[in-house]
Amino acid sequence: AKAIVLTENPALPAAQKIKIRNGVENRGKRVRVSGWVHRLRVQGKNMTFIILRDGTGYLQCVLTDTLCQTFDALTLTLESTVTVYGVINELPEGKTAPDNHELTVDYWECIGKAPGGEEAMSNKVNENSDPSVKYDLRHLVLREEKASGILKVRSQVMKAFRDHFDNRGFTEVTPPAMVQTSVEGGSTLFELNYYNEKAYLTQSSQLYLETCLPSLGDVYCLAESFRAEKSHTRRHLSEYTHCEAEMAFISFNDLLEQLEEMVCDVIDRTLAHKPSAEIVYKLNPSFKKPERPFLRMDYTEAIQYLKDNDIKKEDGTFYEVGEDIPEAPERAMTDKINRPIFLCRFPAEIKSFYMKRCPENNALTESVDVLMPGVGEIVGGSMRISDLEELMAAYIREGLDPNPYYWFTEQRKYGTSEHGGFGLGVERYIAWLLNLHTVRDACLYPRFTGRAFP
Ligand code: 4AD
Repeated sequence: AKAIVLTENPALPAAQKIKIRNGVENRGKRVRVSGWVHRLRVQGKNMTFIILRDGTGYLQCVLTDTLCQTFDALTLTLESTVTVYGVINELPEGKTAPDNHELTVDYWECIGKAPGGEEAMSNKVNENSDPSVKYDLRHLVLREEKASGILKVRSQVMKAFRDHFDNRGFTEVTPPAMVQTSVEGGSTLFELNYYNEKAYLTQSSQLYLETCLPSLGDVYCLAESFRAEKSHTRRHLSEYTHCEAEMAFISFNDLLEQLEEMVCDVIDRTLAHKPSAEIVYKLNPSFKKPERPFLRMDYTEAIQYLKDNDIKKEDGTFYEVGEDIPEAPERAMTDKINRPIFLCRFPAEIKSFYMKRCPENNALTESVDVLMPGVGEIVGGSMRISDLEELMAAYIREGLDPNPYYWFTEQRKYGTSEHGGFGLGVERYIAWLLNLHTVRDACLYPRFTGRAFP
């Protein structure tokens, strides 16, 4: 048999190069589209269907007769790259395809063929693969619909945070990632050799944001934070994206209002983007916008709640006031209450050095954790100490040398103000929105205990 060689018909109009997302407005015109073969279905000798993927969407392409009888057509494999030429037409009633249309191919080229058989991508990694294989082959897993869908929503969520703050007059800043002071205690610091000096990867940009208030007013950042976590849980990462904000001349109540407004506004903005909304409801069909106002609960009430609901420690005893509420009981309580909770006013001894005390009870702090059903804590925030003497005493109490913090301390010297802020874990927010089992799936290339590759 003579090999079939395809040529483009010179009598046809020139094909305009388009992306799949622009398919609908380009129906009826001759176009060309390049992408990866996502699905492949050979239907007899005279018809082959390709679902093409280009990162902007999926497009059904139909190849007929000689178009599907070339050597390249007969040996085509999933994940190969192709350019197809032809016209996109709406599908008749009863047929379904992405965007309800398909491209009738009149000419096509294979750009790069992917291996089939043993070496085929689907053979190396698929839904049934061991999690560690999935992380080793994350660069291939990203091609799957779920993994890429999550990243698309993530992109919109990040944009929504920026739009939220920009709309309210906040200035975005980019604080350093390499630092020489800790914010959240020494136990989770990643240390590095900085020109033979000790330095760390930042745990939080909070202290730097506080220094911006006198010059920029309300500020925020979306930056990476790093934690050398000992806990190997489905909500802990070694590197995560931290959305932090800081505001001057506010009260604790203002802080809570701003937080609630942000959590809800970011959902509204994300769902207003139609492709993201589709992914949200596909991955999390029962998603409902949280009801406002969020439940406000004090830490001491939570300790009582755990007792009343028989939620105990592993050793069978109850949590007592003054103890940290770990992940398991926090989750149990949040899932049982099943709505967002502002857990407020933690005892000073279990919180960070910079937190302001409650005017009504000096043992407690004006602090808040936002707890979401399914994930637990997604935000930590507080009012900050505004008095210089009180701050100096806090360093001493926590065993911190005040010297390296001089730049932070001087904010209390050169015109102090009541102020407060918070940090939200973007991966945890996404895990809640999309009902993901682990925050790792909300990352491009997750970093957690034992993994810093690929
Ligand atoms: O509660 P955290 O430690 O608070 C701070 O770092 C404050 N300095 C923030 C501020 O007020 N500007 O962390 C804040 C949030 C947590 O609620 C959680 O969502 C996220 O950061 N987070 C992590 N996310 C993933 N992996 C980890 N290891 C995380 N540690 C904290």
